[in-house]
Amino acid sequence: MQVTPNESARPGKRMNSQVAAAKAIKRCRELAGITETPGQTLRTFLSPAMRECMQVVGSWMTAAGMSAAIDAAGNLRGLYPGTQAHAPRLLIGSHLDTVPNAGAFDGVLGVMLGLALVESLEGRALPFAIEVVAFSEEEGVRYRIPFLGSRALVGTVDRELLCAQDERGVSVREAIEAFGLNPAELSFPLLDANARGYLEFHIEQGPVLESEGLSLGVVDRIAGQTRGDITFSGSSNHAGTTPMHLRKDAMVAAAQWICEVERIALSIQDLVATVGRLTVHPGAGNVIAGGAQASLDVRHPEDAIRRMAVEELVGRANSIAVSRGLQAKWHMHTETSAVRMNTRLSHLAFEAVCKTGSRPLRMTSGAGHDAMILAERLPSAMIFLRSPGGISHHPEETVRAEDVANALEAGMRFLDEFEKDLAGTEEDMHA
Ligand code: HGY
Ligand code: MN
Ligand code: MN
Repeated sequence: MQVTPNESARPGKRMNSQVAAAKAIKRCRELAGITETPGQTLRTFLSPAMRECMQVVGSWMTAAGMSAAIDAAGNLRGLYPGTQAHAPRLLIGSHLDTVPNAGAFDGVLGVMLGLALVESLEGRALPFAIEVVAFSEEEGVRYRIPFLGSRALVGTVDRELLCAQDERGVSVREAIEAFGLNPAELSFPLLDANARGYLEFHIEQGPVLESEGLSLGVVDRIAGQTRGDITFSGSSNHAGTTPMHLRKDAMVAAAQWICEVERIALSIQDLVATVGRLTVHPGAGNVIAGGAQASLDVRHPEDAIRRMAVEELVGRANSIAVSRGLQAKWHMHTETSAVRMNTRLSHLAFEAVCKTGSRPLRMTSGAGHDAMILAERLPSAMIFLRSPGGISHHPEETVRAEDVANALEAGMRFLDEFEKDLAGTEEDMHA
């Protein structure tokens, strides 16, 4: 589906990184106002707000000399051609969807920096094409399945995933069709055959760079994650007439388990485990809860430790349920393995940051990113920007303008490094 530009201007004068940084930050804040929930930022998979957001970003892409189109998974794909047709292609991107009550920079900044790098070329073509990708669904809010957009590029959107339903019973397939896209096109990877690498800029979303007094980091690896739900089933009953010792209270069982999640996570180094959502049935103040569904999000850099922790947490839920005469049922939504970033491309990113005069920190990412999916088929690298206050997934999430300018300087140098690297690879191939 082509995006029709609503800005005809070609790129203006070449911008310096401070000006480009201010523009990128301004655009992130403008897009934060495009939301499903007035007063807070929320954009979910293929929602009307997402369509409006992609229309705006698509118009900035076309104004920068790119062709913009939306693929079958709802990803907005902006292409800045290289000097030849079918030139090798560098992808730069991140996601436009958000968590509820989100900040303005998670994901969006990575798309804006890709766009700003294209604008900085001021129409000059490189020996490689640049594709700026704005992924449609990374957070997994609507379907509780993250990375839908990036999975489409690597070809792992399967039938089961297309049948997943949201809270209104709308399947992924139906959502794609309702948006005017064709799910049949997802039967093969949507990654272009000329793609040679993926670079994602992203806020760190944690406190490490700030605690080190550093502007930028280069990601070595991304922690694996397991996401699912534990459902406790007991018996609803009257809050006034049911003696305490005769209750099968699902809310209390869930509460006891949630404290156990914290205790067990604190006992395993580098593990994080979170219960972020608790849904109780029937949910009335004068009724003992017969059902309680708690989400579980577990992350660790080592997959074996994460899986062992999930097993221990699920086992604990079962033992709590049995001790209270209830049942507990675990449903895993997704499991994403820990991923190492590409050594070569990360070296180029590290060199590029060093050439800006900043000292980059090599880091593990506790947050998941589309790069961990792209890495299945494409050399991928990530550059982190400092998160002031270590705050993210929160309206007070922010960035420093000088870090955004540093990231753009590093990005421009990365393009130079990537060009040299490509030339070297081409020589090797013809040697
Ligand atoms: O939750 C995460 O890992 C990221 O924000 N998608
Ligand atoms: Mn996020
Ligand atoms: Mn993100």
